[in-house]
Order: sequence, then structure tokens, then C-alpha cells
Amino acid sequence: MRLLKAGRLILLLKLTIVLGSIWMLSLFSYPKTSWDPTYILSYSWLEYTDADGIPETACNCSAILRGEREALEEAKLLSITRDFRESVHIPDEYYINATQDCREFQLSRKYLTIPLSQEEEDFPLAYSIVVHHKVDNFERLLRAIYAPHNIYCIHVDKKSEPSVFSAVMAITSCFPNTFMVSQPVTVVYAAWPRVQADLNCMADLYKASTKWKYFINLCGQDFPLKTNLEIVRMLRSLKGGNSLESEQMPDEKKWRVTSSHKIVDGGIQWAGKAKEPPPFNLPILSGNAYIVVNRGYVRSVLEDNRIQTLIEWAKDTYSPDEFLWATIQRIPGVPGATWPNSKYDMSDMNAIARLVKWQWHEGSQGSLEAVYPECHGNHVRSICVYGAGDLKWMLEQHHLFANKFDTDTDPIAVYCLEKYLRQKALAELQ
Ligand SMILES: *[C@@H]1O[C@H](CO)[C@@H](O)[C@H](O)[C@H]1NC(C)=O
Ligand SMILES: *[C@@H]1O[C@H](CO)[C@@H](O)[C@H](O)[C@H]1NC(C)=O
Repeated sequence: MRLLKAGRLILLLKLTIVLGSIWMLSLFSYPKTSWDPTYILSYSWLEYTDADGIPETACNCSAILRGEREALEEAKLLSITRDFRESVHIPDEYYINATQDCREFQLSRKYLTIPLSQEEEDFPLAYSIVVHHKVDNFERLLRAIYAPHNIYCIHVDKKSEPSVFSAVMAITSCFPNTFMVSQPVTVVYAAWPRVQADLNCMADLYKASTKWKYFINLCGQDFPLKTNLEIVRMLRSLKGGNSLESEQMPDEKKWRVTSSHKIVDGGIQWAGKAKEPPPFNLPILSGNAYIVVNRGYVRSVLEDNRIQTLIEWAKDTYSPDEFLWATIQRIPGVPGATWPNSKYDMSDMNAIARLVKWQWHEGSQGSLEAVYPECHGNHVRSICVYGAGDLKWMLEQHHLFANKFDTDTDPIAVYCLEKYLRQKALAELQ
């Protein structure tokens, strides 16, 4: 174990020297100090620092992560300033141009292009990411979760702006292990195509590599709360299990699966008739669109005849993304599945897949109704778009990812989070 670590350190050192010299030759703002091996070894050139010269460095992230009021107030003032928000935004055109030289793009954006540990390399992950706008949000997410031994399938909604498509395509073309989904679809909110987007990526990922152990699906406005090493360790501790919301369906949601729907003018409508009961009398469970599942679960989704039948049945339901994965998780024989009995129900707060703050569950600790503290950002469709003031609480949770972030609304929340995670990942090396 120790030997392995030493060997890896030497490899890293060699690579860093090579990369370090490219770095110095390049035009980026490498600090003009003399050659200092400890500096190189400490990887600080991969850290996000004030030397990056981006506007967000004006705020004090360590104070923000501790929830200090003064720093949070300053951050809030800054993030509501129009000039600041505009200066922070990275336009699609930047990505289209900057990716013409992939190596320079990787270096200047500080991508981690070597595995940071054997443990991570031995436990590759597969990601499906659906995107339809806000390329800079997506790129910062990719940068935060990127590792050369993982694999990433990106689905860009067919109705997205051409510049979104071009920019995401340009970014993915810079990495051998990131690719555009082979069959993109037009996503309709709360309708079947949202699931189809993930299914198409699942199939591509399953075919592209036999090595990955877990599948995680994301959207462009998610962000990790853990480093890759922490994610790997938490997944290993699941011991082959899956982690996703899967609970008894509340009565007020049952119409979603008992009546038939159709897509009209890019929206979903009631089709005016009732649906047949689900195939094999499968109990339909309630969950959400975001899951953390093992490779066997994905194989079942793609190959198990019962699930193929369930999928066909689900195509005219309302919001199938919010029950399909949850239902499959309780089908006997699916790897990592649990029995349908309610004793195995798992809530979104107990699953590690995704942290979401729903407006109606916010409140103060001690009240029976409240699930989490008030949102410090603002709400979109009743979901909290996190502000810097949410970070302290979020980092105390066990979830791997949180939804929703928006660099156009609160760039500081994303900045402090990405900076924290990068620092932590590099510190884990020591
Ligand atoms: C940032 O906040 C931390 C924690 O309160 C404090 O120790 C540090 O001095 C602050 N840094 C700056 C540059 O103000
Ligand atoms: C385009 O990218 C190149 C590096 O790849 C850079 O030198 C140049 O300044 C960029 N042009 C614009 C307009 O940003």
C-alpha cells in the first residue's frame, strides 16, 4: 500500500514537472517565482486561487463556508451587482474558441488530467449529464467531476440554441472519455423524453466501457458536494447497493400513472383516457429523476424484459422520471434492488443521490414540518437555487450532489464550492 503510494507520487511528480514546464512556457499567469519543488509538489498550480484573476476572488470563501454573516452579506451585495454578474459570465463563444487548442484549454481551466489515486482509478464512474442551456454552469460542473478514468455522456436537448450545442460539443471533443449522446431527443418537461435522454446515455455508456462500476445522472445545474475520492468511498460503502429516492406513492400523485398523456406543442397534456394498470402488477413507487445505481441496475434497465415492458407502459404517463427509477429499484432480481415493502422505503434525504431544497419543506429546526433551513438564494419552480449562505449547511449533508446552482444568479456559491472541493482533492493526496 505504502509502496504503491510512493510509486504514484513519483509518477505524479514526473507528470507535474512535465506539465509544470508546459505551464511556465504558456502565457498564463504563472507566478514569477523561482523553481520551487515544494510548490510543484503541493499542486498549488491546480488550485483555484486569486492568481486566476477572476472576479469571484473578491469574496472570502473560507468565511462564507463557515457561514460568517458579514462575508455572506458582502457576497450577496456582490452577486446582485449587474456588472459583477456580467463579468463572471463565460459566453458560449469562449468555449468554442478556447477548445481549438485542447491542451491549453485543459491547462488554463485546470482540469485534473491524471487520476489522483489508485483507489479512484480502480473504481471508475459513468456519468450521464443532460444540458439545455447555461454552458458555463455545465462546464464548471464537468471540471469539478472530471477524472480521466471516468466516462461522461452528455445529452444536449435538441431544442437548445445552436451555440449551446456547438460549445458543449467543442468541450467534449477535448477529452477522450467525454462524448455527446448518439441519439439526442427533444426534452419535454414532465414527459417521457426526459427519461429517454438518460436511457440513451445509459445505453451509450454501457456499450462504451465495461469497466465502470456506478452510474450517476446529472443535469447542467447540479454540482458535487464531495470530491471524486469521497464519492468513490461512499459508493464502495454501499456494497453493491443503489441509492435513490423510492417511496410509496402519495394518493395525490396517483393520477400521473392512472391517466394517459400526450405531447402537444412541446408540452404534456391529458389524453382524455385512463391507463391500464402497470404490467405484472408492479407496485409503482415515487422518487425523483436523479439516481446513483450500480452497473447491474443499468444492465437490467437495458436488457430485462420486465423493465422493457414497464418502459413501454410508462411512455404516456406524467413525469415518468419521478417514478420509473424508483419502481425499478424495487423489482426482484435487479442488482442492488430492495423489496417493495414500505420498510425499505428511502426518502430523498436518506438517499445520497441528490440534495434538493423544496420550498414547502423549508423551515426552522425543531418544527415538525420542516426538513431543511430556509433557502438563501431564490426559488425556481419551487426549488431553491442555492446562494452562498446555503453552503455551510449543504456541506454537512451526506449527498454526493446538490441541485440547483446557477452562476448567473449566485456565482459565488459555485465559486466557493468548486474552490473548496479542489483544495480538498489536492489535500487528500498528501
Ligand atoms: C477570510 O475569513 C477568514 C475566516 O473568518 C479570516 O481568518 C481571514 O482573515 C479572511 N481573509 C481575508 C483576506 O479577509
Ligand atoms: C481564441 O483562442 C486562442 C487560443 O486557443 C487565443 O489565443 C485567442 O485570443 C482567442 N480569441 C478570442 C477572440 O478569444
